[in-house]
Amino acid sequence: MAKKNTKAWSGRFREALAKEAELFSSSIHYDHRLFKQDIVQSIAYARQLVRTRVLTNIEAKKIVSALEAIMKEIAAGKAELLQEYEDIHMNIEMLLIKKIGDLGKKLHAGRSRNDQVATDLRMYIKYETTEIILLLKKLQTVLVDLAEKNLKVIMPGYTHVQRAQPVLLSHHFMAYYEMFRRDMGRFQFVQQESDVMPLGSGALAGTPFEIDRKELAEELGFAEISQNSLDAVSDRDFAIDFLSACSLLMMHLSRLSEELVIWSTYEFNFIELSDKYTTGSSIMPQKKNPDMAELTRGKTGRVYGYLIGLLTVMKGLPLAYNRDMQEDKEGVFTAVDTVKGVLSIFPGMLETMKVNVEVMANAAKKGFLTATDLAYYLVRKNVPFREAHEIVGKIVAYCEESNMQLEYLSLKQLKQFSDAFAYDATRILSAESSVASRDIVGGTAANQVKEAIKRARKNILHDQA
Ligand code: ARG
Repeated sequence: MAKKNTKAWSGRFREALAKEAELFSSSIHYDHRLFKQDIVQSIAYARQLVRTRVLTNIEAKKIVSALEAIMKEIAAGKAELLQEYEDIHMNIEMLLIKKIGDLGKKLHAGRSRNDQVATDLRMYIKYETTEIILLLKKLQTVLVDLAEKNLKVIMPGYTHVQRAQPVLLSHHFMAYYEMFRRDMGRFQFVQQESDVMPLGSGALAGTPFEIDRKELAEELGFAEISQNSLDAVSDRDFAIDFLSACSLLMMHLSRLSEELVIWSTYEFNFIELSDKYTTGSSIMPQKKNPDMAELTRGKTGRVYGYLIGLLTVMKGLPLAYNRDMQEDKEGVFTAVDTVKGVLSIFPGMLETMKVNVEVMANAAKKGFLTATDLAYYLVRKNVPFREAHEIVGKIVAYCEESNMQLEYLSLKQLKQFSDAFAYDATRILSAESSVASRDIVGGTAANQVKEAIKRARKNILHDQA
């Protein structure tokens, strides 16, 4: 005899779902994460069903208190969530029926798991995005604090990982602040995009029961309600936006990680990461490895992967809901865990790292980093830039041959290359004067970086989570 069909749709079926098919299609092992959103949603929905006379006031109250009890049980790990009930929605419905009997069977009237899951996922992303924004603010604050603390530290700025021009370490930190500020804007956008309630769209065509969608949205904390039921149940743009915001954030964190890795090499020796955020080797006693930064760089891959994954899931789907869309959640959950994990590491890792100020300063002195400044000097003496470039190029070649730094050239030596050099030429050759001369909005002069810090502090205060 065939196994008894325990599914909610057993009416139409003669045979039970094959065990392997059940295992293959069940999502409860990960979508249990949505239990709070699902129950909060069901509670609000039960109240609406009173308006439509599907439930009496007393029935709704019973359902609500049973759902509240189920919420506590699941949170305490005391509820049995079964694979055979497929997903969190069916499991909660089954728990409800177990608790209050036939009354529990009334709750799903007019609703579908299609509008239900879309609503849950939007609630989840809204909540997690707020968490991420708060963590981002903490990271921004640490970067701005570090910028403030290091206003006197000069380091080589790089292009092509070749020493280019001197910059303040503060300016470097503030560059990351700018990236994380843009990330914040993207998460705020995700919040807006997720703030639209699909509930009331039914399976695809809307619901004939007269629920007040606006009131429902208000109760669930949604700013708006969706305007087309077909779109509402089959739209995952907000999840893609979320994964995209996470991907960009991870890309920035990965770049910062890469710098921490390079800077803490013996060769660079610009920083030393704290023991708290490094690990040793099981074989080489001397090792101190920047694993947290490396893992951040590595974990960026999976977040990108889930973004491309979901874009690909969605690209061929006809309207409206298709089961493919169940594939949306694991990526979103993984991205949440990854981003929150990394963001919980970085503030501490940055705050505790030691900056080798002398090493940075010395590095900024070697490598002809003020060659551009020397060319600009000539430009101010009316030499066309291209000519000035050529002249200074020759000076650099001369210095290289005679193994000396630009800074130590005398006026006499400079004059051999151009008559335009005068007594004030040697003054502009230090890293300090090069940095100080970039006194323009966005430039690395201390004045400007201080202004940038001020602006950043204001933004951090005003940016809404
Ligand atoms: N677990 C499903 C998902 O995440 C819920 C929606 C199922 N709808 C359906 N018609 N089978 O997509």
